[in-house]
Amino acid sequence: MKILITGGAGQIGTDLLHHLHGKGAKLSVFDVAGPPEGLPPGVRWYRGSVDNPSELLDAVKDAAPEVVYHFAALLSATGEAAPHRAYAANMDGTRNALEAARLFGVRQVMFASTIAVFGPGLPDPVPDDVPLQPSTIYGVTKVAGELLGGYYKRKWGLDFRGVRFPGLINAGVPGGGTTDYALWMYVEGIRNGKYECYVGPESTCPMMYMPDALRALVELSETPVSRLKRCIYNIAAISPTAAEFAAAVKKRVRGVEITYKVDPARQAILDSWPRRLDDSCARADWGWKAAYDLDRMSDDLVPKIRKMVGVF
Ligand code: SER
Repeated sequence: MKILITGGAGQIGTDLLHHLHGKGAKLSVFDVAGPPEGLPPGVRWYRGSVDNPSELLDAVKDAAPEVVYHFAALLSATGEAAPHRAYAANMDGTRNALEAARLFGVRQVMFASTIAVFGPGLPDPVPDDVPLQPSTIYGVTKVAGELLGGYYKRKWGLDFRGVRFPGLINAGVPGGGTTDYALWMYVEGIRNGKYECYVGPESTCPMMYMPDALRALVELSETPVSRLKRCIYNIAAISPTAAEFAAAVKKRVRGVEITYKVDPARQAILDSWPRRLDDSCARADWGWKAAYDLDRMSDDLVPKIRKMVGVF
């Protein structure tokens, strides 16, 4: 199958690329960044900006994918530092991706939504259908992306689907999100033996290990449309406190020191998000179930991060 990934050099895109390559897909990437080292063979790389319609449309026309995974976006922390840039990349970028799909006969668009679509004051765990009142520009643009994709589905029959991802953790470099502290504990803990966490020890939000996230995308993409009752699904895995992440790192990396120095801006963003997600719709409609808990994830992740940073 021919697949194009926007944001294919980012945190999700990099890992999905290898995952889909292993499944035999014919892959193209569209990204502002150039191709990284270790790119799987045969991947076509289009360099450009999603907020530039002609660059993205030309790439989609040329690559002629059946499925587009649309990930290109500025995340919550980067977005708050540059709201206008986030608006351009996330709003114009999503509109351009959907337009490219409509114009060039793409069958399916898969969208990465997020816990950041939610605002404060919601039930715990948070179900799919609640008032969406995000506090960040990132959340605002992701709500708009969910709605716009739903419109393209109703109006033009585009098979638009997506998941609301928790904070994602992998052996990679996090990309400007508020949930990145969990991954930094592992990376900096292994690399430098210490990490100063920018949210307090009791902070809690939904998190997920990347292999679960990739499986969710592929399983949702492959589910017959007749089984899906909605376009966008909450998916859940784990919700440890920051202190529980710290303990998981300390258990596996000798002598690590994790301290806390709260950054009020990022703490406020995190506190506005759910502590837990209710993913019962995804479970019922397409059989979703996370496989990794904190211990299983940490056992798998620590050796991979050691290899990534070259510290054994
Ligand atoms: N990980 C993202 C962020 O922190 C949430 O989707 O911005």
